[in-house]
Amino acid sequence: MARFRPVARAFRPFHHLNQAAKMTSALFSPIRLAGLELANRIVVSPMCQYSADDGCANDWHLGHLGMLANSGASLVVIEATHVERHGRITHGCLGLYSDDNEAELARVIAHCRRISAAKFGIQLAHAGRKASSQRPWQGGKGLGLGEDPWPTIGPSPIAFGDGRPAPREMDAADLTRVRDAFVNSAKRAVRIGFDAIELHLAHGYLLHSFASPISNQRTDGYGGSREGRMRYPLEVAAAMRAVVPNGLPLGARITGSDWMDGGLNVDDAVALAKALKAAGLDYVDVSSGGVTPAAVPPRDPGYNAPLAAMIKRESGMATRVVGMIVAPKQAEAIVAGGQADQVAMARAFLDDPHWGWHAAAEFGAEVPRPPQYQRAAPAVWPGAAMR
Ligand SMILES: Cc1cc2nc3c(=O)[nH]c(=O)nc-3n(C[C@H](O)[C@H](O)[C@H](O)COP(=O)(O)O)c2cc1C
Repeated sequence: MARFRPVARAFRPFHHLNQAAKMTSALFSPIRLAGLELANRIVVSPMCQYSADDGCANDWHLGHLGMLANSGASLVVIEATHVERHGRITHGCLGLYSDDNEAELARVIAHCRRISAAKFGIQLAHAGRKASSQRPWQGGKGLGLGEDPWPTIGPSPIAFGDGRPAPREMDAADLTRVRDAFVNSAKRAVRIGFDAIELHLAHGYLLHSFASPISNQRTDGYGGSREGRMRYPLEVAAAMRAVVPNGLPLGARITGSDWMDGGLNVDDAVALAKALKAAGLDYVDVSSGGVTPAAVPPRDPGYNAPLAAMIKRESGMATRVVGMIVAPKQAEAIVAGGQADQVAMARAFLDDPHWGWHAAAEFGAEVPRPPQYQRAAPAVWPGAAMR
């Protein structure tokens, strides 16, 4: 198969848009994270597929990521990929804890690179007390006795909810083993050739559960004050930074708010972002919620953007935001208004895997498209100019 080449010059469908419009899109302006140059501010948010075989990517991932590779987003962050087998959310979650995991993921990423000009990041995760779960379409609850459940770990023996068993409180050996597992998976991700690596520090999974007072009630040096609760995530981040080359962006998806009394708030997020920056990380990606089933985030458009704006302003860290960003004009306003440097979208890309092409049409910008698809637009978008 012919290797894909960006076709920016060959494809100029929107002659009705003037040059001024082309120059003013913040969404389609480039950005640099450490040594990584990205052509626009659009990111495909990590999305678990619950479809792996003992942590190994397979043909589903080949098709799914191949589709998102040609979405117009400059960066595709692949789903939460777990650093140890018992750190997976479900039996179907991706892992990067074995040589087989590494080989199969390398195969998928090599395929994506052959067909696309996008860059690829990976989110490394440990599910903590939210591990041993059913896939969402099986109910999403804790695995029952007949479903091959496994024991979970967490900062404190506080169950996530919905009838799950309490996790075992992590002891010193657990803390070391899981930190080393993050480091080993980061080394594997570097070997595969990922363009960016992201630590999952949100959605109630292990590292977030250390940071939040809702799930962390330890009385040792890894609990108590904000500094104590942040200590373990920061140790993991620093250990990863030590093995991820400096030019390769290392970031973290963090929690802007637990959305509950007594939980993390945006001041905690600012403190965490500052500490991650001091540990040498290159960006934060602001999400929120997930520490208990009871905490329900708001679901209005761009609900995390005000949190991201404050985190960006106060920490000086490059900031990405996610959450109910759907319309191109909304994404443009977030970047142009300085609320965030990048926008990540999940469900909008599942709904429209060429979201970036359609957004580019609105702003007179261009994105690389495979030559095989060049005849698609603008003939089939007669309403594009009116959107
Ligand atoms: C199918 C699906 C899988 C997801 N898996 C992950 C994941 O692996 N890691 C993560 O941080 N967030 C995950 N999320 C959350 C999204 O990345 C995103 O933060 C959330 O859906 C809100 O963004 P949206 O409104 O653009 O969908 C997932 C969301 C969906 C819909």
